[in-house]
Amino acid sequence: MANMEVFECISTRRSIRKYLDIPVEWDKVGTILEAGRLAPSSGNIQDWNFIVVQDEDKRKAIAEAALRQYWMSKAPVHIVVCADLKKSERFYGVRGNRLYSIQNCAAATENMLLTAHSLGLGACWVGAFDENVVSRVLNIPDHARPQAIITIGYSDEKPKEPIRYPLTTVAFLEKYGNRIKDMAAVLHDYSVVMERNLKKGKAIFEKTGKKTGSLLTQKGKELAKKIKEKLGK
Ligand SMILES: Cc1cc2nc3c(=O)[nH]c(=O)nc-3n(C[C@H](O)[C@H](O)[C@H](O)COP(=O)(O)O)c2cc1C
Repeated sequence: MANMEVFECISTRRSIRKYLDIPVEWDKVGTILEAGRLAPSSGNIQDWNFIVVQDEDKRKAIAEAALRQYWMSKAPVHIVVCADLKKSERFYGVRGNRLYSIQNCAAATENMLLTAHSLGLGACWVGAFDENVVSRVLNIPDHARPQAIITIGYSDEKPKEPIRYPLTTVAFLEKYGNRIKDMAAVLHDYSVVMERNLKKGKAIFEKTGKKTGSLLTQKGKELAKKIKEKLGK
């Protein structure tokens, strides 16, 4: 199957909205569906169904229902991820309906996006659509809810990596709001910390060395000497 490292796959995946006029091989569609099937779900209830849509008229109708995102119809395959709310509710009541069903389908969707990318395909998660219209086009019963549409095809674009917040903004340590200022130190990546300190030390040494080291305390001088030795200067 995939021959990409997981992290490489995660970090190089992009939302693709322009597709070549080339069909997608069935075995690849099968592998993508399999990745969805294998996603984690609350209590392993697997309260999802995946509708593969190839029919051009249906893809056009879906694009129309997706707030006229016409680029979607150029993708030769759509996979519509539906939550089986009867099942989510039967197992977990309100929480099943309102939370788990969404999380479970999102996990399956992400699995499928990553697998598509690992197979050399482009894909996009589409969430902006009229659920009633999509349900009508695909005969989706009342107890099921279309939650995501994945467009799939061979990419005809190379989008730039969108800006992401740095970890120091989104990750907290031990309590909400407690930003991690030095991620490497917290993760005990001592090699990174050492390298940085050595560079800092080198800079201080070079600056102060020219001033005959007078700015350094005895301890500082010893440290500078050690750094000098370490740097082989
Ligand atoms: C829940 C959800 C809904 C989305 N809906 C749309 C959509 O309706 N149309 C679209 O073009 N992209 C949609 N996207 C894709 C995002 O715009 C995209 O993931 C984001 O801009 C980051 O870019 P990247 O996927 O290339 O990393 C959606 C993504 C998610 C997770």
